[in-house]
Amino acid sequence: MTTKKSQPRRRFVVRNSGIHGKGVFATTHIPAHTRLIEYKGKRLTEAQVDKRYANDDDPHTFLFALDDGIVIDATINGNSARWINHSCAPNCEAVDDKDRIFIETLRAIRPGEELSYNYGIELEERHTPAMKRLYQCRCGARRCKGTILQAKTKK
Ligand SMILES: C[S@@+](CC[C@H](N)C(=O)[O-])C[C@H]1O[C@@H](n2cnc3c(N)ncnc32)[C@H](O)[C@@H]1O
Ligand SMILES: [Zn+2]
Repeated sequence: MTTKKSQPRRRFVVRNSGIHGKGVFATTHIPAHTRLIEYKGKRLTEAQVDKRYANDDDPHTFLFALDDGIVIDATINGNSARWINHSCAPNCEAVDDKDRIFIETLRAIRPGEELSYNYGIELEERHTPAMKRLYQCRCGARRCKGTILQAKTKK
């Protein structure tokens, strides 16, 4: 006789998004402050990223920059976390836990809701109107800032 092990139900799926390309959607109720998935990929230095993407002006990337100059490139050994879109009113956040990035819910999420976090992208160059347009945000939030770029913090 074989016994069937019950599999934990997947809490989210990847499918087409109204924000951009593919996105990640909840399949079930998810409580607030739930750790959902690690943002996985190959760890590169900024120099390696610059070399790898030298001729690439496309703002569309699967890169996650850590504070210490290391960048996680989810095009190499990445997982579903790479499909999570940005929102100006996100329901998740990216949490740094000992240099590993985890996506956690900020609030309770209903089945069918798209998961999102604030990318917080701050470019070294000036955030000119043209750059803001290049990084245009389509999150659809009532208070959408119109750009994925994060306002620069004064140093
Ligand atoms: C890590 S991918 C996310 C998955 C993406 N939807 C896809 O299908 O490739 C990040 C890219 O998705 C796009 N993106 C994510 N959130 C967006 C938003 N709120 N508005 C416009 N584009 C967005 C940007 O091009 C960004 O560089
Ligand atoms: Zn937005």
